[in-house]
Amino acid sequence: METIIIPINQNNIDNEAIVLASQFIHAHQCVAMPTETVYGLAANAWSDEAIQRIFEAKGRPSDNPLIVHVCDQEMLLKCIDQPLNDRILKLMEAFWPGPLTLVFKKSSLISDLVSASLPTVGIRMPDHPIALALIKATQVPLAAPSANVSGRPSPTKGSHVLDDLQGKIAAIIMADQSQVGVESTVLDVSSQTFAILRKGGLSIERLREVDSEIIYDDALIDVNVTPKSPGQKYKHYAPSKPMTFIEGNLLKQLEYLKTISLEHTLLISVDEIINELSGPYMVTLGTKDDFEFALNGLFDILRQSDNMPVTSILVTSYSEKGLGATLNDRLKKASTEKIIL
Ligand code: TXA
Ligand code: MG
Repeated sequence: METIIIPINQNNIDNEAIVLASQFIHAHQCVAMPTETVYGLAANAWSDEAIQRIFEAKGRPSDNPLIVHVCDQEMLLKCIDQPLNDRILKLMEAFWPGPLTLVFKKSSLISDLVSASLPTVGIRMPDHPIALALIKATQVPLAAPSANVSGRPSPTKGSHVLDDLQGKIAAIIMADQSQVGVESTVLDVSSQTFAILRKGGLSIERLREVDSEIIYDDALIDVNVTPKSPGQKYKHYAPSKPMTFIEGNLLKQLEYLKTISLEHTLLISVDEIINELSGPYMVTLGTKDDFEFALNGLFDILRQSDNMPVTSILVTSYSEKGLGATLNDRLKKASTEKIIL
């Protein structure tokens, strides 16, 4: 299949380009679209034929449900079968549009293909002018997983989507790099206990400022508990080389790294460590507490590592506060080994 490239400037959105993209959606095809978190592979959530195409293009396991993207409350209400109580409304007011997916009891309109036969559906309002314009133009909710081949790092640039999905999907909207650079936080609000199912672009600390009772789901604390979010159990974000996650405080990490050879290894770390070492392949993700900056560049570096003449990758852990918890989560999932110092 020929993949059509649709360039759109997000500061001056060309309506004809949006109409072209929406024609593909109405023809039950998949269109990769930018969002503020990562690029998504969008298709009409009401069309099983279109949803099937998402799973095929990504090589995605069919038991992993899709997130549905909406542009307003009216569209949200068509997708869910539960009242919006005060707690939920407060969260939506504070964080939508934005990197927060809410898991609701699903309406009968949401097909089992989208929800992977779960009784719930994850919904998000993206904070991106092109994604919102596309949903408004199509007037249908858009199911959209990250637009990568399953298992690969999520795409934060249009070129990443091209690398993974060219020839497999109808169209790619090419726009700027995703601002957040990591997927949304998934929060289950389908029962009284509001629990985070996947760490993401919004920290638990910020969520608790609005709802102090939000907790992490047990599976995020204890590896022996089966995750409620099926995607959590799969291998993710993996570069093609073996990657080791080095867990410990900065001083211990530095001490350890000074004892080993970095000749054939890519070291991905922070300024405070990289500045103290020498090696041919070292990439910094910024200063140790600049979590936003690090998240913004992480997936791009993991993808670049595939083309570097190195045999292995080392990454260092972050502090667990704020979005440091999300960074550690993605680094651990992308790693094949772990060293605890
Ligand atoms: O930021 C994002 O969330 C991006 C952009 C494109 O919106 N999308 C994304 O989708 O990351 P995906 O498919 O790569 O990840 C969706 C995650 C999976 O871990 C899936 O298991 C979980 O959300 N999920 C979706 N629906 C769920 C549900 N009903 N219950 C529990 N987990 C759900
Ligand atoms: Mg994904």
